[in-house]
Amino acid sequence: MIKSIGNRFNHYYKLHPLVLILVCLSIGITVLIVLSISEGQFKMMPTYRKLDGNVDSYPFARFRNLVMVAGHSVYTSSSCEKVDKEDSWYLEPYQKHPGQAATFVTHIHKGVEIAANDDEALLLFSGGETRKDAGPRSEAQSYWIVAESKQWFGERDSVRSRALTEEHARDSFENLLFSVCRFRELTGAYPQNITVVGYDFKEERFVHLHRSAIRFPESRFFYSGTSSTQNSREAALKGEALVRTQFQEDPYGCMGSLWRKRLGRDPFHRSIPYPNGCPEIEGLFRYCGTVPYPGFLPWA
Ligand SMILES: *[C@@H]1O[C@H](CO)[C@@H](O)[C@H](O)[C@H]1NC(C)=O
Repeated sequence: MIKSIGNRFNHYYKLHPLVLILVCLSIGITVLIVLSISEGQFKMMPTYRKLDGNVDSYPFARFRNLVMVAGHSVYTSSSCEKVDKEDSWYLEPYQKHPGQAATFVTHIHKGVEIAANDDEALLLFSGGETRKDAGPRSEAQSYWIVAESKQWFGERDSVRSRALTEEHARDSFENLLFSVCRFRELTGAYPQNITVVGYDFKEERFVHLHRSAIRFPESRFFYSGTSSTQNSREAALKGEALVRTQFQEDPYGCMGSLWRKRLGRDPFHRSIPYPNGCPEIEGLFRYCGTVPYPGFLPWA
């Protein structure tokens, strides 16, 4: 069969070499045109579910809003009885203050509460395996397990099934960017509204620096801040002012000291899966600059 097609091909080629070359060329060009048109159509789509063929392939397609709790530490205790004790968490020297562990639990509680009040919210705990001595356990997993041990603060039935993790972020900018990507991966679309839960003194950083860097509309971005412990506050505010300056000069955290800090927070060399899961914003992931990313963004 194949041989006979080959023979025939040979035969035609001898008879009309030019015609055959033209036919092959036009078939090739047609295929290219069809491919480029269909790709263009996909780029125009407001949501991206069809890209992957099947709506059902997104297990969380019905959620519209992202609630993100930014991780600050890894839970190291092997029991879940002392989630608000400092000994149970891996703390950097600057974090070692009585009451610090309780502030993490407050963030988790707050995230659960906000999600409980919004049926369309997906809750993400975000944070990677950032501490070598804590072992290969992520901040996100730590927060999830604490929520679990607290029975989701009375909201287990409502929230547990829509609380997931983003396990690679190494700093606050990545908490935001990676969670948005993870949201797309889970729901097939980008969030309508984003609420970030964290310390009140980080509000400025998230709302003005990180949000601006990804050009997410301010009217759809919310910050829920809780206070830090009283005795750590002064040092925290000082530290925060420094980090804010760094992000002002390097909004994507991809140069100099912010970049080095990221590397230091990845002791186990985890490969980062993104922008797999959010192909539309691949350019944003690759971008490094001091002015806002100028390319296409699905929400801007
Ligand atoms: C997003 O937030 C705005 C302002 O609070 C609200 O009016 C809107 O309904 C929210 N959208 C969704 C999908 O919840």
